[in-house]
Amino acid sequence: MGQKVGLTETVLRDAHQSLLATRMRTEDMLPVAGKLDQVGFWSVEMWGGATFDAALRYLKECPWERLHRIRAAMPNTRLQMLLRGQNLVGYHNYPDDVVERFVEQAAQGGIDVFRIFDAMNDVRNMKVAMEAAGRTGKIVEGTICYTISPVHSVDYFLRLGERLAEMGAQVICLKDMGGLLAPYVTYEIVKGLKSRLSLPLHLHSHCTSGMAPMSYMMAIEAGVDNLDTALSPLSQGTSQPATEALIAALQGTPFDTGLDLGPLKEIADYFYEVRKKYAEFESPVNNQVKTDILSSQIPGGMLSNLVAQLREQKAEDKLDAVMAEMPRVRKDMGYPPLVTPTSQMVGSQATLNVITGKRYSVVSQETRNYLLGHYGESPGPIDAEVRKAILGKKEPITCRPADLLKPGLERARQEIGSLAASEEDVLSYALFPEVAKEYFHWRDSQNIPSS
Ligand code: CO
Repeated sequence: MGQKVGLTETVLRDAHQSLLATRMRTEDMLPVAGKLDQVGFWSVEMWGGATFDAALRYLKECPWERLHRIRAAMPNTRLQMLLRGQNLVGYHNYPDDVVERFVEQAAQGGIDVFRIFDAMNDVRNMKVAMEAAGRTGKIVEGTICYTISPVHSVDYFLRLGERLAEMGAQVICLKDMGGLLAPYVTYEIVKGLKSRLSLPLHLHSHCTSGMAPMSYMMAIEAGVDNLDTALSPLSQGTSQPATEALIAALQGTPFDTGLDLGPLKEIADYFYEVRKKYAEFESPVNNQVKTDILSSQIPGGMLSNLVAQLREQKAEDKLDAVMAEMPRVRKDMGYPPLVTPTSQMVGSQATLNVITGKRYSVVSQETRNYLLGHYGESPGPIDAEVRKAILGKKEPITCRPADLLKPGLERARQEIGSLAASEEDVLSYALFPEVAKEYFHWRDSQNIPSS
């Protein structure tokens, strides 16, 4: 009993987010977009995650324009984005009206598949985005963030999958941002989800710990429908398993992807050259197999960020200490999966704990907000002493965090005024006020027409 396996190609999003600090420019994507369009991928992930912020902040590029141009160059392939639930493509909760308008505009701009997750697996933070995506008629992928802890069991993930199906997901994605999924656990979860649900199941992993290709094979054996891979020049390390290797591995089997390796060679040659242009953003740690992430659980591109932060503070020698402190902070916080934005929260608090030499003597605003319940419900109980020491008598909220937010779209529209040239600009501003404003001023100074 076999079935054709589909592939989601990540070279335009996660691959460069994980290996090149999200710096790939639209101009380096467009020359091969037409060729990528002909391959026959189930989808190409090309938007969302950190790309939106990075485009505005570092590349002085309009992320919406990237979407329009790739859409035009790839009329035959589903375009996919990664959406952080109520956090959209940012780092905190946005009001519901902003979430709804953003999803609508992204669908209008050409997104076909919305992969929606919440860092805490708190479905209340996914509801509004999933419903908005559902209304656009596009594909809604309800996403399970995989992690390892005493409170996360196979059964926990299966129940979460069922919950997402009830909420209207048309596809379930098992997302292993840290590369923590072991092959036999993968088999159990995939088998369980496939037997409980009649929805297609997609798997996303990273090669960080070296296990992803093995886990992909076990997922195939267990009946997974679709796998995320990256073209070879931007595969492996903190990125995804290689597209070509998966295609070759499955050829002539009942799981054959049906994709042809021939045309991929030319596209791969192209990206080998492109990668060289971004050499300054490479970090050697990204290309090493690191089994110590199994305890620290640092996801994909975060390790290189952490190294850079410590280097800035001339504390590079503290890396091992910080990596050892991360699981302790995570335990205190009730074992959140580590993915944006919880990974940053835990990472920076662990760094503070190590650098000050006294745990929680300095507490970041993010940690405080987390303890107050603004990220959602923690998977396990938060350490009572840590909470008391930091919050005192202050009680955390128990409602859906975004219920406390006032509508934000009209306020954003008024604030940015004529600096915004489109509804898309208004949304960019609503998400990243300072960064967007700076970009608009820069754009005006360059006389670049808005998209
Ligand atoms: Co990823």
